[in-house]
Amino acid sequence: MTAKFITVEGIEGAGKTTQLMFIQHFLARHAIPHVITREPGGTSLGEQIRSLLLTPVEQPMAVDTELLLMFAARAEHVAQVIQPALLHGKWVISDRFVDASYAYQGGGRGVDMARIDALSQWTLRDLQPDLTFLFDLPVELGQERVNKRNQGRDRFEQEKIAFFEKVRHCYLARAQQEPQRIKVIDAAQPIDRVQAQLAELLQTLVT
Ligand code: TYD
Repeated sequence: MTAKFITVEGIEGAGKTTQLMFIQHFLARHAIPHVITREPGGTSLGEQIRSLLLTPVEQPMAVDTELLLMFAARAEHVAQVIQPALLHGKWVISDRFVDASYAYQGGGRGVDMARIDALSQWTLRDLQPDLTFLFDLPVELGQERVNKRNQGRDRFEQEKIAFFEKVRHCYLARAQQEPQRIKVIDAAQPIDRVQAQLAELLQTLVT
């Protein structure tokens, strides 16, 4: 069985963290060697870039800077973590990847998608996830869940509803374009239903 590259996406409050733990347990149960990682981040340099990207600051960051920092962190992540792991037969599960740049910087901030395509080709070449789980839910519901967390909001979480509507719309549009790779899971359902769907999809990869 060749190692698979799986990514997890969704707007804030979609429950990615809980579902990542479920995926991790599933792989462990099947004795599949794997690494769990995240973007922006996943390397020591990448985590420093993450902190630049997520920490709220008074002077707004230029949109191009944000996009380029996302891809700088990604280039490092691909070279140091993702490709080596896959080469060694380890599955890679990433909490967000390039679809997030299309959704947040392209959809949310309005960056020309052709620019994201160009950066993506440059930094990823042929690397694409084998499977992407898109946890989808109405923006208001996601925001309610974020409000219940007892922690401050990061730079993205401080955005308004309209921003996340655009992000969500872009994610769903991408899923429509690539239904084979991007599987939309209704994250508003009860957690056991979400996980039943997840398990079914994961099962197709291991058999
Ligand atoms: P997130 O994954 O939501 O982390 P946590 O669950 O710990 O809050 O935080 C990452 C943020 O970065 C999220 O708001 C989306 C944003 N992001 C982009 O805008 N573009 C990207 O390419 C990536 C990978 C993330």
